[in-house]
Amino acid sequence: MNFDFTETQLMIRDTAKKFAEDELAPDSVERDEKEEFPHAAVKKLGELGFMGMMVPEEFGGAGLDMVSYILALEEISKIDAAAGVIMSVNNSLVCFGLNEWGNDFQKEKYLKPLASGTALGAFALSEPEAGSDASNQRTIATRSGDHYLLNGTKNWITNGENADYVLVMATTDRSKGSHGISTFLVEKGSPGFSIAKKEKKLGIRSSDTVSLAFQDCKVPAENRVGDEGFGFRFAMKTLDGGRVGIAAQAYGIAEASLNAALRYSQQRKAFDKPIFEFQAIQFKLAEMATKVDAAQLLILKAGKLKEDGKSYGKAAAMAKLFASKIAVECALEAIQIHGGYGYVREYLVERYLRDAKITEIYEGTSEIQHLVIARSLLKE
Ligand code: CAA
Repeated sequence: MNFDFTETQLMIRDTAKKFAEDELAPDSVERDEKEEFPHAAVKKLGELGFMGMMVPEEFGGAGLDMVSYILALEEISKIDAAAGVIMSVNNSLVCFGLNEWGNDFQKEKYLKPLASGTALGAFALSEPEAGSDASNQRTIATRSGDHYLLNGTKNWITNGENADYVLVMATTDRSKGSHGISTFLVEKGSPGFSIAKKEKKLGIRSSDTVSLAFQDCKVPAENRVGDEGFGFRFAMKTLDGGRVGIAAQAYGIAEASLNAALRYSQQRKAFDKPIFEFQAIQFKLAEMATKVDAAQLLILKAGKLKEDGKSYGKAAAMAKLFASKIAVECALEAIQIHGGYGYVREYLVERYLRDAKITEIYEGTSEIQHLVIARSLLKE
């Protein structure tokens, strides 16, 4: 597998790095403290083509490849992991699904603004009783003439408060189990659709996470994405790609932790010399650097398989499992190297730990990634 980056991929990575340093870094601490959504930055991400990176240009996207997307997401997440997840959900979960399975009408009306960044999307699968057990969908969609009526509640929805369009999974035929679930595109402001609760979170605090309520919410039948009964497979296939995005986000946090720890260890003196000169610190940094590199290889492997149209579910699960684990480990070690300064808000490393933890939970917990990997071993 060739991991040499093309000129275009390197240019995208540099653009993302510059954008993150110039536009995200200055206010990221304040936004985290105030739980403030980065509206202006998300608009600019759209203008850069970063909100629909792999969508063809005819549908408003940038027409780029998966590796470019990974590199951009890593750079954004190094500086601001909350912006990283906003970008990841819009690209991986919303634009990808609509591009793959949306019809011409849906692509024209919804994908174009979503991919060009003039609209924001959310993906609503999780429910109070359907987290890891995602097929246990209680939200019901009942067909009535030319529309469906949606009733139910969705939980933990990233971008939910600010999204213009939400992809909602709902049961159309409970007797069919996971084959009785369908996907609907619901517009913000639809009667019967409301935001029920905004979560106060440990990390990624400037991204919004909400519950959504549907009470006799009327959705035109033309807004069903894919066939009736395709919703669970739609969600699973979409999440396979989403997991590569979250792995890239986790990688960004891990690398930021390593960089911060390396910098600090060269500045901070103890016993008359920079603490970097102590083997105890060098060993920690060497471990962190090795894990960070290994994570990126797994992420690029999953991305390449997806790009080449090959099976990548297992590789995506491995990339997410490993990158999220080492993001937490690297953030913890960065705090340890910073000592007391790592535990307070004066340095960024305490935020890296708070941001890293969610990568082991959303888009499938680490336990679910183990399960996906183990099941796929049996199929090989
Ligand atoms: N691709 C295609 N089809 C798939 C698939 C995949 N990746 N995974 C499963 N399927 C198919 C199966 O082949 C099976 O089809 P048949 O019935 O025709 O054989 C069907 O779907 C049911 O599959 P399972 O029997 O494997 O289903 P299960 O109930 O055992 O669940 C699971 C499998 C892997 C545990 C799944 O429920 C899962 O991934 N859970 C985690 C959910 C998750 O990741 N949620 C994240 C929420 S979104 C989010 O976090 C976004 C955000 O805001 C940041």
